[in-house]
Amino acid sequence: METRIRSAEERRNDIAAAAAAMGIDEEYISTLVDTFYERVRAHPLLGPVFEEKIGDDWGPHLARMKDFWASVALNAGRYSGKPVPKHKALTDVHPWHFDIWLGLFRSTLADTAPSPEAAVYFMERAVRIAESLKLAMYGLPGLGAPQSKGRS
Ligand code: HEM
Repeated sequence: METRIRSAEERRNDIAAAAAAMGIDEEYISTLVDTFYERVRAHPLLGPVFEEKIGDDWGPHLARMKDFWASVALNAGRYSGKPVPKHKALTDVHPWHFDIWLGLFRSTLADTAPSPEAAVYFMERAVRIAESLKLAMYGLPGLGAPQSKGRS
């Protein structure tokens, strides 16, 4: 039996190979991010939230989001930001914004994903990350907001 601990590079290669079998690669991630944020910007309720933070200079945000999704989906290790404090600073964002965000992400995947498995793969990760962002922003339902939230 193989007992050797695999290197980070071997693990990354395995993950990239499994993703590639579903049709997921850097090119698809670029398409997904571009299409999703085009729809986010056009959305009457989500668009203004992003407009306020990002304005017209979307290049850096899109590049960061491609690094983020490549790290999540391919274990690319290129993203080193801190999403929790960034989202905690968005005091006009409410839990229902997440439902819209996830709905747009789901329909973008339905329209663009290279395979049904790829759509499930991204959606599962998005839901999980959205849950952890919501937990950090709003705490557990019924237990009040986390101390550091800065909301009243
Ligand atoms: C209601 C839903 C959401 C809203 C309104 C929202 C809004 C934003 C905004 C305005 C920024 C830019 C922040 C800044 O540059 O100061 C941002 C950054 C980011 N968002 Fe979200 N977001 C939402 C959900 C999500 C979800 C579900 C994910 C992941 C699956 C995500 C991942 C990220 C990441 C990785 C960044 C970059 C943070 C950094 O600067 O490193 N967001 N988001």
